[in-house]
Amino acid sequence: MTDSLLVRRFATIGRHSPLFYEEPLHLVTGEGVWLTDVNGRRYLDAYNNVPHVGHAHPRIVEAMRSQASSLNVHTRYLNDRVVDYAEDLLSRFEPSLDRVLFSNSGSEANDLALRMSHQHTGARGVLVTDHSYHGHTSLLAGITTGLKNHEPLGDHVRTFHVPDLDDAAHQGRSEEEVLTAALTEVQAGISDLVRNGHGVSAVILETLFSTEGLPRVPDRYVVEVAQLVRQAGGMVIADEVQAGLGRVGSHFWGYQQHGLIPDFVTMGKPLGNGHPLAGVVTTAALLEEFGSRNEYFNTFAGTPVSAAVGHEVLKIVDDEALVANSAALGEVIHHRLEQLVAAHPRLGVPKGSGLFFGFSVFADAEHLQPDAHTTRALVEAIKARGVLLSKIGPTSSVLKIRPPLALREEHLPLLLGTMEEAVAEVLE
Ligand SMILES: Cc1ncc(COP(=O)(O)O)c(C=O)c1O
Repeated sequence: MTDSLLVRRFATIGRHSPLFYEEPLHLVTGEGVWLTDVNGRRYLDAYNNVPHVGHAHPRIVEAMRSQASSLNVHTRYLNDRVVDYAEDLLSRFEPSLDRVLFSNSGSEANDLALRMSHQHTGARGVLVTDHSYHGHTSLLAGITTGLKNHEPLGDHVRTFHVPDLDDAAHQGRSEEEVLTAALTEVQAGISDLVRNGHGVSAVILETLFSTEGLPRVPDRYVVEVAQLVRQAGGMVIADEVQAGLGRVGSHFWGYQQHGLIPDFVTMGKPLGNGHPLAGVVTTAALLEEFGSRNEYFNTFAGTPVSAAVGHEVLKIVDDEALVANSAALGEVIHHRLEQLVAAHPRLGVPKGSGLFFGFSVFADAEHLQPDAHTTRALVEAIKARGVLLSKIGPTSSVLKIRPPLALREEHLPLLLGTMEEAVAEVLE
């Protein structure tokens, strides 16, 4: 059945639409942190961040059903659902970030934030990290560094590397040294943009640096990058598509971990728990400027059904204390992973925060050579034992573990026990 489905998929969706795992998973149901395949085998989902409050959460299903059965229209009519939701969402930001524009995807949100930055500054130059992904529109294809893309980087784009204090510690470099070198690189990009007549429109940063492989950045790194960009007249876009809604545990938004207040916060994935809901949060002044020049209208964004779902997600995050859960479990997991990696010289220290974590896999105990092959073997061995996760980073050699926030302490023995067994099998 799975084989013939694969043939039909290739014949319709094509061969290039990515599929995970050597043998693709044919899933039929999801509930909480569990996914079940066509053979009735259950997997612990330690990968998916879109079903933030859990797969098929009954309150989300009911919010969708009840709103869809009474009214669903676009935002050109007055409806209290979208305003109720916007008020609740905005209450989770600093007071200056008090306006929201809804969209359907993280790509649309980032595209819009870049467009607003461009219009506000009159400049075109964009700074982006050297291994990142912010979406798939033409504009974003021109700034993509972390995914295969036919389009070259735009002339108006400069990239910079995100420093990792874990790597630096291995090389005997101090935090101060690392920070100075990293900021010098950003300043060089800014100067080059200015010299070439592009000016500086924005820097866009994913605040967990997940595509980059979860580097541990110096404390002041993000605020200082923002300061350099602002001094050059540019705006700061925090991409919270991965880090937002309590994923990092210590804060509701990833940028808050860094002590930054961005000009634009872009959101997506977990916002609608699987329903397409995304958006840009910004200041009243920036929205006013953009709104007075452009009629922004987005047919499916912020409908009563989307708003009902998005609002229910926020209420569940509160009612089920999911941010505190992310922090508490993140700490327990971090501690157990420290013990695991200490016993295996080819594994790097645990990375990430809250319920987004992993560790690097190397070919040698000196941590000179990243080992994508062994990382892939670990992902497969963990899957074979019934747990789903993946890999990230420029060399695909960091395990990517990012379960729904509905993960509970009772699931940890399976998650961590499975990882320990797989590491023992693959590395020994
Ligand atoms: C950090 C980040 N930003 C933006 C996007 C694009 O979001 P979407 O796929 O909803 O367009 C993604 C998607 O993977 C992402 O990881």
